[in-house]
Amino acid sequence: MFTDDVLLEICEKKMSRLKTFGIFTAGGIAALTCSQAFQLYPFKIGDSEQLSVKLEEPIPKLDYNKKYDFTNSINESIFKLDQWRVANTIPGYVIGISVKGRNVWLHGDGFADIENAIPCTPNTVMRIASISKSITAALLGKMLEEKKVYKPIREYLTPEQFPDKTWEDKKVDITLRQLVSHIVAKPGTKYVYTTYGWTLISAVMESQMKDKNFSKAIKSFVNELGMKHTFVDENSPIIYNRASYYMFNKKTGKIENCPSVDNSSKIAGGGLLSTVGDLLRFGNLMLYSWKGTDPFGRPGYLDSKIVDQMWTPVETTFKSNSFGGYGIGWVSIRNESAKKAFAAEPRFSTLFYHSGGAVGASSLLIIEPEKEIVVAFITNMLSAKEMYRIVYDVTEIFSKQISGDSSLKIATTSTS
Ligand SMILES: *[C@@H]1O[C@H](CO)[C@@H](O)[C@H](O)[C@H]1NC(C)=O
Ligand SMILES: *[C@@H]1O[C@H](CO)[C@@H](O)[C@H](O)[C@H]1NC(C)=O
Ligand SMILES: *[C@@H]1O[C@H](CO)[C@@H](O)[C@H](O)[C@H]1NC(C)=O
Ligand SMILES: *[C@@H]1O[C@H](CO)[C@@H](O)[C@H](O)[C@H]1NC(C)=O
Repeated sequence: MFTDDVLLEICEKKMSRLKTFGIFTAGGIAALTCSQAFQLYPFKIGDSEQLSVKLEEPIPKLDYNKKYDFTNSINESIFKLDQWRVANTIPGYVIGISVKGRNVWLHGDGFADIENAIPCTPNTVMRIASISKSITAALLGKMLEEKKVYKPIREYLTPEQFPDKTWEDKKVDITLRQLVSHIVAKPGTKYVYTTYGWTLISAVMESQMKDKNFSKAIKSFVNELGMKHTFVDENSPIIYNRASYYMFNKKTGKIENCPSVDNSSKIAGGGLLSTVGDLLRFGNLMLYSWKGTDPFGRPGYLDSKIVDQMWTPVETTFKSNSFGGYGIGWVSIRNESAKKAFAAEPRFSTLFYHSGGAVGASSLLIIEPEKEIVVAFITNMLSAKEMYRIVYDVTEIFSKQISGDSSLKIATTSTS
């Protein structure tokens, strides 16, 4: 679907938005190539190259290390993570944290492969499982911006691809809106989480693609977003730094290898592999799309209104659940739903996240928009216990340090 023409069109739209923001002179626009326009997120500590898009005004030089001293938070987090890893017999994990668009900590511990004693590092690639839904939702968001896939799904699929459905003896129209928020089992009235629903979504998306190949489209999409270590979960390709997957055998009390599986039927809803670095990049792309601009005033990748819709919990979902609420490919904790999600004492007033569970892997991607923290977590353990608790704990440690440290404000005009 992302033919050169479509890309060019998106790029031109983006350039005109950049112009609207008054960032570029005519010469500046000519100097900034399309590919650079897509390379805006996120920034790494000390990686000034990432900041050197040709702007009319030079971006202020920031002393990241001085402004972002997270030594104490990192130390405290390592202790907690280590404790959690041992207590729950976790083979290995990788965590990544970014604050205000910059990666401040990437850390792996334990083993990516126990048999060969390969340690987990920030380069380790693992199944991200259902976080794939959030990435599919972003591609869907792009298609919605382009006014594709707006109609009932019936109009995109043949009766052979998707037969008519009835509920309570009446024929029902299944809509994309119901599918993306998991309210399709009892259409519009009840939340029932379904990964198969996302396979159907990808069939609808595929119908609007030039070569009708979702797998190919999602590969080209993550590539466009600069997620260079994100792959479709296929067994045969050699994927460097791919972890092995494990599960706990209750009978023997030991960790075991998971069998190899072919889950190619759920690429859209749970079939991608990635690294925490790529997930942070994606999280920041969502966050600053939502906010409209990044910390340097540059425009987001997706339309802010579309991301806001993705992050608005559908009432049906937060009425029937205790986790907050589901938007579009994201769990959204906002306003009233926050109280429900965190019971008596909300840890965060606003939080957008998706978790994942696959054969031999568990994952969590969290966006805390108020302090602009993104946390990515992957582990090669089936149904990793207490994962939410530990990742929330670490997020809270960083969040508290930011609250208590006024030097963390980003200087947008600066001579220092
Ligand atoms: C790191 O954290 C541990 C546990 O919270 C604490 O005992 C230790 O003193 C800390 N070390 C440093 C250098 O701050
Ligand atoms: C879709 O594209 C992938 C390459 O990304 C290719 O391996 C696969 O065979 C294609 N599927 C179909 C049904 O053509
Ligand atoms: C993934 O593969 C496993 C093993 O074949 C299977 O049990 C599971 O149902 C598959 N998941 C999906 C969503 O298709
Ligand atoms: C949450 O509150 C904000 C204002 O604080 C409001 O604009 C928004 O519509 C509310 N969202 C939901 C889902 O109730």
